[in-house]
Amino acid sequence: MINIPKGTKDMLPNESYKWNYIKNKAREIARKYNIKEISTPVFEHTELFVRGVGKSSDIVNKEMYTFLDKGERSITLKPEGTAGAVRSFIENSMFNEPMPIKMFYFTPCYRYEKPQAGRLREHHQFGVELFGATGTRADAEILMIATDFYKSLGLTPKVVLNNLGCVECRKNYVQKLKEYFSPQINEVCEDCKNRLKTNPLRILDCKVEDCKRIINDAPKISTCLCDDCKNNFNNLLSVLNSLKINYEINETLVRGLDYYTNLVFEFWDDDGINKAALGGGGRYDNLVEELGGKSTPVVGFGIGLERLIMYMESKNIAFEQDKRLDCYIVSMINDDVMILNIAKNLRDNGISCETDLVNRSVKSQFKYANKINAKFTIILGEDELKNNSVKLKNMDSGEEIFVNLEDLVKKIKEN
Ligand code: HAM
Repeated sequence: MINIPKGTKDMLPNESYKWNYIKNKAREIARKYNIKEISTPVFEHTELFVRGVGKSSDIVNKEMYTFLDKGERSITLKPEGTAGAVRSFIENSMFNEPMPIKMFYFTPCYRYEKPQAGRLREHHQFGVELFGATGTRADAEILMIATDFYKSLGLTPKVVLNNLGCVECRKNYVQKLKEYFSPQINEVCEDCKNRLKTNPLRILDCKVEDCKRIINDAPKISTCLCDDCKNNFNNLLSVLNSLKINYEINETLVRGLDYYTNLVFEFWDDDGINKAALGGGGRYDNLVEELGGKSTPVVGFGIGLERLIMYMESKNIAFEQDKRLDCYIVSMINDDVMILNIAKNLRDNGISCETDLVNRSVKSQFKYANKINAKFTIILGEDELKNNSVKLKNMDSGEEIFVNLEDLVKKIKEN
């Protein structure tokens, strides 16, 4: 037997209803906010992620599934959804359309991580990107979209926020971090030694205990924010207060991707899923330009669907089941033409139905109809069919009636 690759999961037919439920809720929220769907390829040119997600990120350095295709091009399976959406925005000249451009996607993502519960090598995200709008209203709207989505599933995770400042604030802050960490360089882990050279901000994200101790006393970004950045952030907080969005500021939140400017955020429950966020995002006002497009501010988020399902299961939150099967045809006759034409007529009229394909006995067909929770069974018996009629059984009440074949659709639809 060939096993599934490490860190990946099948979505099995008997749990697909959970995915359908979540995706339907996401689509419903997207409809309310007038956000249209986008789908981009599973693979892109490697360069897109190196320039987009950033050379100093763990994703680009350690986690990408990169290979040469038969034309010797370097190709990467997308590790996240944002870079592809931005590439498409630029390539399809969406900047010529009236702003904002709002898009959502469901996408698989590939990261070569150490697999554990809630951390997979293939995961799926529901993401939203809002192009061409800057300021408090757009920032607040993106947080409203995500919190509305969680709320529709019966969840109220906390929003953890930080402001990474504009390019100028960041420059000053990075200088301060270098001055703070350089004298202690021998006390931090090997990764952080490199981070000090490539992207000192990344050190704040380190989970190594010795590093965490030093990070605790590091200068805070709030000491470097210019008046504009400070005011915008304070405005956002007061809007969030008025909208009753439960947030907390965490000045060490820097996120694992290099493209963010100003607002960054994550969604957490009390303990996280194995100490990992349920979702995250932020503003990235320079990425479109860095990837060759016209300067366009953007804000967005991505929410991992596997983590979401795990979280809902751990909280015993029910997933709505797929629609129940309308009817199962129990046949006492062996007449393919008759059985399949009755089934066809039902399906053509919008009624879902199944019939026996594996030669079950009549008793087993009833058992099976019970097991798959059919609302009705239609019993095809030789004598009834001679009179052009069938027996219709309501599987909940047990009531049985004879129905003329011409009236079958109408009778089922009445109930
Ligand atoms: P991210 O924080 O890397 O952001 O991923 C978003 C979410 O995807 C995480 O919060 C988590 O729920 C899920 N996720 C990430 N990695 C894994 C994994 N290995 N296994 C299972 N779930 C995972 C982004 O990807 C950004 N593109 C989000 C964004 C959109 N920012 C702006 N726009």
